[in-house]
Amino acid sequence: MELARRLTRLARLDRFPFHMPGHKNRFSQLVPKFDATELPGLDNLHNPQAAIMRAQARVAETYGVARTFFLVNGSSVGLMAAIASVVGPGDKILVPRASHKSVVAGLIHSGAVPVWLEQDYCIPEQRWLPPTADQVAKLIAGHSLKGALFTNPDYFGFVPDIATLTRLCHSAGVAVIADEAHGAHLKFGGAVNLPVSAVDAACDIIVQSPHKTLPALTQAAWLHLNDGGLAAEIQHWLNLFHTTSPSYLLLASLEFAGEYARNHAERLLKRLARLEKALSLQCRALNLQVFSGAAPRDWTKFTLPARLGMEKLLRRAGVYPELVQGNKVLLMLTLADAYDDAGIRALCRLLPRLAALSAVRRPPLAIPPLPVQEVSPREAWQRGGKRVGFRDARGRIARQVIAPYPPGTLVIVPGQRLTGEHVDFLEELHARKVISRWIEVI
Ligand SMILES: Cc1ncc(COP(=O)(O)O)c(C=O)c1O
Repeated sequence: MELARRLTRLARLDRFPFHMPGHKNRFSQLVPKFDATELPGLDNLHNPQAAIMRAQARVAETYGVARTFFLVNGSSVGLMAAIASVVGPGDKILVPRASHKSVVAGLIHSGAVPVWLEQDYCIPEQRWLPPTADQVAKLIAGHSLKGALFTNPDYFGFVPDIATLTRLCHSAGVAVIADEAHGAHLKFGGAVNLPVSAVDAACDIIVQSPHKTLPALTQAAWLHLNDGGLAAEIQHWLNLFHTTSPSYLLLASLEFAGEYARNHAERLLKRLARLEKALSLQCRALNLQVFSGAAPRDWTKFTLPARLGMEKLLRRAGVYPELVQGNKVLLMLTLADAYDDAGIRALCRLLPRLAALSAVRRPPLAIPPLPVQEVSPREAWQRGGKRVGFRDARGRIARQVIAPYPPGTLVIVPGQRLTGEHVDFLEELHARKVISRWIEVI
Protein backbone atom coordinates (compact mmCIF):
# COMPACT_ATOMS: atom_id res chain seq x y z
CA MET A 1 0.00 0.00 0.00
CA GLU A 2 1.73 3.09 -1.31
CA LEU A 3 0.36 5.75 1.04
CA ALA A 4 1.13 3.65 4.12
CA ARG A 5 4.60 2.82 2.73
CA ARG A 6 5.45 6.45 2.09
CA LEU A 7 4.20 7.43 5.54
CA THR A 8 6.25 4.65 7.15
CA ARG A 9 9.35 5.84 5.33
CA LEU A 10 8.70 9.40 6.45
CA ALA A 11 8.08 8.28 10.04
CA ARG A 12 11.43 6.44 10.13
CA LEU A 13 13.39 9.55 9.20
CA ASP A 14 15.02 11.40 12.05
CA ARG A 15 13.52 14.76 11.24
CA PHE A 16 12.69 18.06 12.84
CA PRO A 17 9.36 19.00 11.36
CA PHE A 18 8.82 22.73 11.06
CA HIS A 19 5.42 22.30 9.52
CA MET A 20 1.91 21.32 10.49
CA PRO A 21 0.53 19.41 12.33
CA GLY A 22 1.50 21.19 15.52
CA HIS A 23 2.15 18.01 17.54
CA LYS A 24 5.24 17.39 15.33
CA ASN A 25 4.96 13.66 16.04
CA ARG A 26 6.49 14.21 19.46
CA PHE A 27 3.50 12.87 21.40
CA SER A 28 3.27 9.22 20.47
CA GLN A 29 0.68 8.69 23.21
CA LEU A 30 -1.54 11.20 21.37
CA VAL A 31 -1.07 10.52 17.68
CA PRO A 32 0.64 7.85 15.63
CA LYS A 33 3.40 8.93 13.27
CA PHE A 34 1.17 8.70 10.22
CA ASP A 35 -0.46 12.02 11.02
CA ALA A 36 1.08 14.06 8.24
CA THR A 37 -0.08 16.65 5.77
CA GLU A 38 0.80 17.26 2.09
CA LEU A 39 4.54 16.79 2.29
CA PRO A 40 6.63 16.10 -0.81
CA GLY A 41 5.85 12.58 -2.02
CA LEU A 42 2.42 12.46 -0.38
CA ASP A 43 0.41 14.02 -3.24
CA ASN A 44 -2.45 16.49 -2.87
CA LEU A 45 -6.09 15.51 -2.27
CA HIS A 46 -7.25 18.68 -4.08
CA ASN A 47 -5.39 17.75 -7.24
CA PRO A 48 -4.32 14.12 -7.01
CA GLN A 49 -1.50 13.31 -9.42
CA ALA A 50 0.54 10.59 -7.70
CA ALA A 51 0.06 8.37 -4.61
CA ILE A 52 -3.52 9.50 -3.86
CA MET A 53 -4.45 9.27 -7.53
CA ARG A 54 -3.11 5.72 -7.71
CA ALA A 55 -4.81 4.68 -4.44
CA GLN A 56 -8.13 6.10 -5.69
CA ALA A 57 -7.71 4.33 -9.04
CA ARG A 58 -7.08 1.03 -7.26
CA VAL A 59 -10.32 1.38 -5.27
CA ALA A 60 -12.17 2.32 -8.47
CA GLU A 61 -10.86 -0.90 -10.03
CA THR A 62 -11.96 -2.93 -6.99
CA TYR A 63 -15.50 -1.55 -7.28
CA GLY A 64 -15.54 -1.68 -11.08
CA VAL A 65 -16.30 2.05 -11.43
CA ALA A 66 -14.83 4.78 -13.63
CA ARG A 67 -13.59 7.03 -10.81
CA THR A 68 -13.28 7.06 -7.03
CA PHE A 69 -12.63 10.15 -4.87
CA PHE A 70 -11.37 9.87 -1.29
CA LEU A 71 -13.30 11.90 1.28
CA VAL A 72 -12.03 13.05 4.68
CA ASN A 73 -15.32 14.39 6.02
CA GLY A 74 -17.51 11.33 5.79
CA SER A 75 -20.23 10.61 3.29
CA SER A 76 -21.66 13.96 4.38
CA VAL A 77 -19.19 15.92 2.24
CA GLY A 78 -19.64 13.44 -0.62
CA LEU A 79 -23.40 13.91 -0.64
CA MET A 80 -23.00 17.69 -0.61
CA ALA A 81 -20.62 17.54 -3.59
CA ALA A 82 -22.81 15.00 -5.41
CA ILE A 83 -25.94 17.15 -5.12
CA ALA A 84 -24.14 20.36 -6.06
CA SER A 85 -22.64 18.61 -9.11
CA VAL A 86 -26.01 17.43 -10.42
CA VAL A 87 -28.38 20.32 -9.65
CA GLY A 88 -28.06 24.12 -9.57
CA PRO A 89 -30.23 27.02 -8.38
CA GLY A 90 -33.93 26.32 -9.01
CA ASP A 91 -33.34 22.80 -10.40
CA LYS A 92 -35.58 20.07 -9.02
CA ILE A 93 -34.24 16.98 -7.29
CA LEU A 94 -36.28 14.06 -5.94
CA VAL A 95 -35.45 13.46 -2.27
CA PRO A 96 -37.13 10.80 -0.09
CA ARG A 97 -38.43 12.21 3.15
CA ALA A 98 -36.28 10.05 5.46
CA SER A 99 -32.96 11.13 3.96
CA HIS A 100 -29.84 12.05 5.92
CA LYS A 101 -29.32 15.61 7.18
CA SER A 102 -26.24 16.19 4.98
CA VAL A 103 -28.60 16.24 2.00
CA VAL A 104 -29.89 19.58 3.26
CA ALA A 105 -26.39 21.05 3.15
CA GLY A 106 -26.24 19.93 -0.50
CA LEU A 107 -29.61 21.59 -1.19
CA ILE A 108 -28.55 24.85 0.45
CA HIS A 109 -25.20 25.00 -1.36
CA SER A 110 -26.68 24.11 -4.75
CA GLY A 111 -29.82 26.26 -4.43
CA ALA A 112 -31.85 23.30 -5.75
CA VAL A 113 -35.50 22.69 -4.91
CA PRO A 114 -36.34 19.34 -3.28
CA VAL A 115 -39.31 17.39 -4.63
CA TRP A 116 -40.06 15.33 -1.55
CA LEU A 117 -41.03 11.70 -1.89
CA GLU A 118 -43.48 10.88 0.90
CA GLN A 119 -42.31 7.48 2.17
CA ASP A 120 -44.79 5.27 4.01
CA TYR A 121 -44.16 4.56 7.67
CA CYS A 122 -44.56 1.06 9.10
CA ILE A 123 -46.02 1.62 12.58
CA PRO A 124 -45.62 -1.95 13.98
CA GLU A 125 -41.95 -2.08 12.97
CA GLN A 126 -41.41 1.66 13.60
CA ARG A 127 -39.47 2.34 10.43
CA TRP A 128 -39.74 4.13 7.12
CA LEU A 129 -40.47 2.02 4.06
CA PRO A 130 -38.08 2.58 1.14
CA PRO A 131 -39.36 4.49 -1.93
CA THR A 132 -41.29 2.38 -4.44
CA ALA A 133 -41.19 2.42 -8.25
CA ASP A 134 -44.78 3.77 -8.36
CA GLN A 135 -43.93 6.69 -6.09
CA VAL A 136 -40.86 7.54 -8.16
CA ALA A 137 -42.71 7.20 -11.48
CA LYS A 138 -45.42 9.63 -10.25
CA LEU A 139 -42.87 12.25 -9.28
CA ILE A 140 -41.02 11.85 -12.57
CA ALA A 141 -44.31 12.34 -14.44
CA GLY A 142 -45.32 15.37 -12.35
CA HIS A 143 -42.06 17.33 -12.24
CA SER A 144 -39.21 18.26 -14.46
CA LEU A 145 -36.56 16.56 -12.36
CA LYS A 146 -32.87 16.88 -12.96
CA GLY A 147 -31.69 14.56 -10.22
CA ALA A 148 -32.85 11.96 -7.71
CA LEU A 149 -31.32 10.67 -4.50
CA PHE A 150 -31.92 7.27 -2.88
CA THR A 151 -30.57 5.77 0.34
CA ASN A 152 -29.32 2.22 -0.11
CA PRO A 153 -29.49 0.75 2.51
CA ASP A 154 -31.03 2.80 5.31
CA TYR A 155 -29.77 2.72 8.89
CA PHE A 156 -31.67 -0.48 9.64
CA GLY A 157 -30.56 -2.18 6.42
CA PHE A 158 -33.72 -1.78 4.32
CA VAL A 159 -33.26 -1.11 0.62
CA PRO A 160 -35.38 0.14 -2.28
CA ASP A 161 -35.32 -1.76 -5.57
CA ILE A 162 -32.39 0.44 -6.54
CA ALA A 163 -31.84 -1.07 -9.99
CA THR A 164 -35.49 -0.46 -11.02
CA LEU A 165 -35.56 3.06 -9.56
CA THR A 166 -32.34 3.92 -11.39
CA ARG A 167 -33.71 2.57 -14.70
CA LEU A 168 -36.88 4.63 -14.25
CA CYS A 169 -34.86 7.78 -13.56
CA HIS A 170 -32.42 7.22 -16.41
CA SER A 171 -35.25 6.66 -18.90
CA ALA A 172 -36.44 10.19 -18.00
CA GLY A 173 -32.93 11.69 -18.17
CA VAL A 174 -32.71 12.05 -14.37
CA ALA A 175 -29.26 11.58 -12.77
CA VAL A 176 -29.20 9.26 -9.75
CA ILE A 177 -27.19 9.79 -6.56
CA ALA A 178 -27.02 6.86 -4.14
CA ASP A 179 -26.45 7.52 -0.47
CA GLU A 180 -24.73 4.22 0.19
CA ALA A 181 -23.09 5.45 3.39
CA HIS A 182 -24.07 2.17 5.06
CA GLY A 183 -23.32 -0.06 2.09
CA ALA A 184 -19.61 -0.05 1.17
CA HIS A 185 -19.60 -3.83 1.79
CA LEU A 186 -22.61 -4.68 -0.42
CA LYS A 187 -20.48 -4.97 -3.56
CA PHE A 188 -18.83 -8.08 -2.06
CA GLY A 189 -22.00 -9.76 -0.78
CA GLY A 190 -23.55 -11.28 -3.91
CA ALA A 191 -22.89 -14.83 -2.69
CA VAL A 192 -24.38 -14.25 0.76
CA ASN A 193 -27.68 -12.67 -0.16
CA LEU A 194 -26.77 -9.05 0.55
CA PRO A 195 -28.82 -6.49 -1.41
CA VAL A 196 -27.42 -5.22 -4.71
CA SER A 197 -24.96 -2.34 -4.40
CA ALA A 198 -25.82 0.99 -6.07
CA VAL A 199 -22.49 0.57 -7.88
CA ASP A 200 -23.94 -2.45 -9.75
CA ALA A 201 -27.35 -0.82 -10.15
CA ALA A 202 -25.82 1.76 -12.52
CA CYS A 203 -26.39 4.77 -10.23
CA ASP A 204 -24.42 7.76 -11.46
CA ILE A 205 -22.83 8.84 -8.16
CA ILE A 206 -22.43 6.50 -5.23
CA VAL A 207 -21.30 7.82 -1.85
CA GLN A 208 -20.07 5.29 0.71
CA SER A 209 -18.65 5.44 4.24
CA PRO A 210 -16.09 2.62 4.55
CA HIS A 211 -15.63 3.88 8.10
CA LYS A 212 -19.07 2.44 8.89
CA THR A 213 -18.83 -1.06 7.41
CA LEU A 214 -15.20 -1.66 6.32
CA PRO A 215 -11.98 -1.28 8.32
CA ALA A 216 -11.39 2.47 7.88
CA LEU A 217 -11.01 5.30 10.38
CA THR A 218 -13.95 7.47 11.43
CA GLN A 219 -14.80 10.08 8.73
CA ALA A 220 -12.98 8.12 6.01
CA ALA A 221 -15.34 7.83 3.04
CA TRP A 222 -15.31 7.74 -0.75
CA LEU A 223 -17.41 8.69 -3.73
CA HIS A 224 -17.64 6.57 -6.90
CA LEU A 225 -18.66 7.60 -10.40
CA ASN A 226 -19.99 4.91 -12.71
CA ASP A 227 -19.24 7.22 -15.62
CA GLY A 228 -16.32 9.61 -15.38
CA GLY A 229 -18.22 12.47 -17.09
CA LEU A 230 -18.94 14.26 -13.82
CA ALA A 231 -15.38 13.91 -12.47
CA ALA A 232 -14.26 17.51 -13.00
CA GLU A 233 -17.42 18.90 -11.41
CA ILE A 234 -17.14 16.56 -8.41
CA GLN A 235 -13.48 17.51 -7.85
CA HIS A 236 -14.45 21.19 -8.14
CA TRP A 237 -17.07 20.92 -5.38
CA LEU A 238 -14.95 18.68 -3.17
CA ASN A 239 -12.17 21.25 -3.36
CA LEU A 240 -14.63 23.87 -2.17
CA PHE A 241 -15.99 21.77 0.73
CA HIS A 242 -12.95 19.79 1.85
CA THR A 243 -10.48 20.95 4.44
CA THR A 244 -7.15 22.17 3.05
CA SER A 245 -5.45 19.96 5.67
CA PRO A 246 -6.67 16.46 4.84
CA SER A 247 -5.60 13.83 7.35
CA TYR A 248 -3.32 11.17 5.91
CA LEU A 249 -4.44 8.86 8.68
CA LEU A 250 -7.83 8.89 6.98
CA LEU A 251 -6.44 8.66 3.45
CA ALA A 252 -4.16 5.73 4.31
CA SER A 253 -7.05 4.01 6.09
CA LEU A 254 -9.11 4.32 2.90
CA GLU A 255 -6.35 2.71 0.91
CA PHE A 256 -6.18 -0.04 3.54
CA ALA A 257 -9.97 -0.56 3.58
CA GLY A 258 -10.01 -0.84 -0.22
CA GLU A 259 -7.26 -3.47 -0.23
CA TYR A 260 -8.80 -5.34 2.65
CA ALA A 261 -12.19 -5.47 0.96
CA ARG A 262 -10.65 -6.52 -2.34
CA ASN A 263 -8.70 -9.41 -0.78
CA HIS A 264 -10.86 -10.58 2.11
CA ALA A 265 -14.43 -9.22 2.00
CA GLU A 266 -16.06 -12.09 0.09
CA ARG A 267 -14.49 -14.77 2.30
CA LEU A 268 -15.19 -12.92 5.56
CA LEU A 269 -18.77 -12.09 4.55
CA LYS A 270 -19.40 -15.82 3.98
CA ARG A 271 -18.15 -16.51 7.50
CA LEU A 272 -20.18 -13.59 8.87
CA ALA A 273 -23.30 -14.92 7.13
CA ARG A 274 -22.89 -18.26 8.92
CA LEU A 275 -22.44 -16.51 12.29
CA GLU A 276 -25.43 -14.26 11.67
CA LYS A 277 -27.60 -17.22 10.68
CA ALA A 278 -26.80 -18.99 13.95
CA LEU A 279 -27.62 -15.79 15.87
CA SER A 280 -30.88 -15.32 13.97
CA LEU A 281 -32.00 -18.91 14.51
CA GLN A 282 -31.44 -18.55 18.22
CA CYS A 283 -33.34 -15.24 18.23
CA ARG A 284 -36.24 -16.82 16.37
CA ALA A 285 -36.39 -19.68 18.88
CA LEU A 286 -36.43 -17.12 21.72
CA ASN A 287 -38.97 -14.88 20.00
CA LEU A 288 -36.45 -12.02 19.81
CA GLN A 289 -37.42 -10.53 16.47
CA VAL A 290 -38.23 -6.99 15.35
CA PHE A 291 -38.86 -7.28 11.62
CA SER A 292 -41.17 -9.65 9.77
CA GLY A 293 -38.33 -10.74 7.50
CA ALA A 294 -40.25 -10.29 4.25
CA ALA A 295 -38.58 -7.09 2.98
CA PRO A 296 -35.16 -7.17 1.28
CA ARG A 297 -32.60 -6.15 3.83
CA ASP A 298 -28.90 -6.00 4.67
CA TRP A 299 -28.67 -8.65 7.39
CA THR A 300 -25.42 -7.16 8.81
CA LYS A 301 -27.63 -4.55 10.53
CA PHE A 302 -28.59 -7.02 13.24
CA THR A 303 -31.57 -5.93 15.35
CA LEU A 304 -33.15 -7.08 18.56
CA PRO A 305 -36.45 -5.95 20.09
CA ALA A 306 -35.80 -3.45 22.92
CA ARG A 307 -36.44 -4.84 26.40
CA LEU A 308 -36.38 -3.15 29.81
CA GLY A 309 -32.83 -3.12 31.21
CA MET A 310 -31.42 -4.59 27.99
CA GLU A 311 -28.81 -1.93 27.33
CA LYS A 312 -27.40 -2.30 30.84
CA LEU A 313 -27.22 -6.07 30.54
CA LEU A 314 -25.54 -5.84 27.14
CA ARG A 315 -22.99 -3.30 28.32
CA ARG A 316 -22.19 -5.27 31.44
CA ALA A 317 -21.15 -8.12 29.14
CA GLY A 318 -19.12 -5.69 27.02
CA VAL A 319 -21.63 -5.59 24.15
CA TYR A 320 -22.10 -1.96 23.03
CA PRO A 321 -24.94 -1.52 20.52
CA GLU A 322 -24.91 1.05 17.73
CA LEU A 323 -28.32 2.38 18.69
CA VAL A 324 -31.16 1.79 21.14
CA GLN A 325 -34.24 3.52 19.81
CA GLY A 326 -37.97 2.99 20.31
CA ASN A 327 -38.77 -0.70 19.84
CA LYS A 328 -35.32 -1.85 18.72
CA VAL A 329 -31.63 -2.23 19.40
CA LEU A 330 -29.27 -2.11 16.43
CA LEU A 331 -26.01 -4.09 16.47
CA MET A 332 -23.82 -3.65 13.40
CA LEU A 333 -21.94 -6.75 12.25
CA THR A 334 -18.86 -6.11 10.12
CA LEU A 335 -15.96 -8.04 8.61
CA ALA A 336 -14.16 -7.50 11.93
CA ASP A 337 -16.73 -9.78 13.63
CA ALA A 338 -15.89 -12.54 11.19
CA TYR A 339 -12.16 -11.97 11.65
CA ASP A 340 -12.66 -12.33 15.41
CA ASP A 341 -16.07 -13.63 16.50
CA ALA A 342 -15.63 -13.06 20.25
CA GLY A 343 -18.29 -10.30 20.22
CA ILE A 344 -20.86 -12.46 18.43
CA ARG A 345 -20.17 -15.34 20.82
CA ALA A 346 -20.69 -13.00 23.80
CA LEU A 347 -23.98 -11.84 22.26
CA CYS A 348 -25.10 -15.44 21.66
CA ARG A 349 -24.50 -16.32 25.29
CA LEU A 350 -26.61 -13.35 26.40
CA LEU A 351 -29.65 -14.02 24.24
CA PRO A 352 -31.56 -16.27 26.70
CA ARG A 353 -31.14 -13.63 29.43
CA LEU A 354 -32.28 -10.87 27.07
CA ALA A 355 -35.33 -12.91 26.11
CA ALA A 356 -36.31 -13.14 29.78
CA LEU A 357 -36.52 -9.32 30.14
CA SER A 358 -39.91 -7.60 29.90
CA ALA A 359 -40.89 -5.87 26.68
CA VAL A 360 -40.73 -2.06 26.40
CA ARG A 361 -44.29 -0.74 26.28
CA ARG A 362 -43.92 2.73 24.85
CA PRO A 363 -46.41 3.86 22.23
CA PRO A 364 -44.77 4.43 18.85
CA LEU A 365 -44.44 8.03 17.71
CA ALA A 366 -47.28 9.29 15.53
CA ILE A 367 -45.49 10.55 12.43
CA PRO A 368 -46.95 13.84 11.12
CA PRO A 369 -47.55 14.42 7.41
CA LEU A 370 -44.71 15.70 5.25
CA PRO A 371 -44.49 19.49 5.82
CA VAL A 372 -45.13 21.75 2.83
CA GLN A 373 -41.93 23.21 1.35
CA GLU A 374 -42.91 26.89 1.05
CA VAL A 375 -39.52 28.22 -0.07
CA SER A 376 -36.28 26.50 -1.05
CA PRO A 377 -33.90 25.46 1.74
CA ARG A 378 -31.37 28.01 0.43
CA GLU A 379 -33.87 30.87 0.48
CA ALA A 380 -34.98 30.04 4.02
CA TRP A 381 -31.36 29.72 5.14
CA GLN A 382 -30.46 33.10 3.69
CA ARG A 383 -33.30 34.93 5.42
CA GLY A 384 -32.76 36.10 8.97
CA GLY A 385 -34.41 33.93 11.61
CA LYS A 386 -35.34 33.97 15.26
CA ARG A 387 -35.37 31.24 17.87
CA VAL A 388 -38.77 30.39 19.32
CA GLY A 389 -40.27 27.67 21.54
CA PHE A 390 -42.16 24.99 19.60
CA ARG A 391 -45.62 26.34 20.54
CA ASP A 392 -44.75 29.68 18.92
CA ALA A 393 -43.54 27.95 15.77
CA ARG A 394 -47.02 26.87 14.66
CA GLY A 395 -47.74 28.30 11.20
CA ARG A 396 -44.17 29.58 10.79
CA ILE A 397 -41.51 28.57 8.26
CA ALA A 398 -38.47 26.73 9.63
CA ARG A 399 -34.98 28.08 9.03
CA GLN A 400 -33.30 25.19 10.79
CA VAL A 401 -32.68 21.51 10.10
CA ILE A 402 -34.03 19.15 12.73
CA ALA A 403 -32.59 15.66 12.29
CA PRO A 404 -31.86 13.90 15.60
CA TYR A 405 -28.60 11.97 15.57
CA PRO A 406 -28.08 9.09 15.30
CA PRO A 407 -28.98 8.46 12.59
CA GLY A 408 -29.64 12.05 11.42
CA THR A 409 -32.89 11.31 9.58
CA LEU A 410 -34.65 14.50 8.51
CA VAL A 411 -37.62 15.70 10.53
CA ILE A 412 -37.77 19.39 9.56
CA VAL A 413 -35.94 21.17 6.74
CA PRO A 414 -35.41 24.93 6.21
CA GLY A 415 -38.27 26.38 4.17
CA GLN A 416 -40.95 23.97 5.46
CA ARG A 417 -44.09 25.30 7.12
CA LEU A 418 -44.90 23.88 10.55
CA THR A 419 -48.47 22.95 11.41
CA GLY A 420 -49.91 21.98 14.79
CA GLU A 421 -49.14 18.31 14.04
CA HIS A 422 -45.46 19.11 13.46
CA VAL A 423 -45.32 21.15 16.64
CA ASP A 424 -46.87 18.25 18.61
CA PHE A 425 -44.33 15.87 17.09
CA LEU A 426 -41.41 18.14 17.98
CA GLU A 427 -42.73 18.47 21.56
CA GLU A 428 -42.92 14.68 21.81
CA LEU A 429 -39.32 14.36 20.55
CA HIS A 430 -38.29 16.91 23.16
CA ALA A 431 -40.18 15.00 25.87
CA ARG A 432 -38.22 11.89 24.83
CA LYS A 433 -34.98 13.91 25.21
CA VAL A 434 -34.16 13.58 21.52
CA ILE A 435 -34.04 17.31 20.64
CA SER A 436 -33.90 20.67 22.44
CA ARG A 437 -37.01 22.84 22.91
CA TRP A 438 -36.21 25.52 20.36
CA ILE A 439 -36.45 25.98 16.61
CA GLU A 440 -35.31 28.86 14.44
CA VAL A 441 -38.05 30.20 12.18
CA ILE A 442 -38.22 32.98 9.57
C1 LIG B 1 -28.05 7.28 5.65
C2 LIG B 1 -26.83 8.09 5.96
N1 LIG B 1 -26.29 8.84 4.99
C3 LIG B 1 -25.20 9.60 5.20
C4 LIG B 1 -24.59 9.63 6.42
C5 LIG B 1 -23.39 10.50 6.63
O1 LIG B 1 -22.26 9.71 6.73
P1 LIG B 1 -20.93 10.22 7.45
O2 LIG B 1 -21.16 10.09 8.91
O3 LIG B 1 -19.87 9.31 6.92
O4 LIG B 1 -20.72 11.63 7.04
C6 LIG B 1 -25.12 8.88 7.48
C7 LIG B 1 -24.50 8.91 8.82
O5 LIG B 1 -24.91 8.32 9.77
C8 LIG B 1 -26.28 8.09 7.25
O6 LIG B 1 -26.84 7.37 8.23
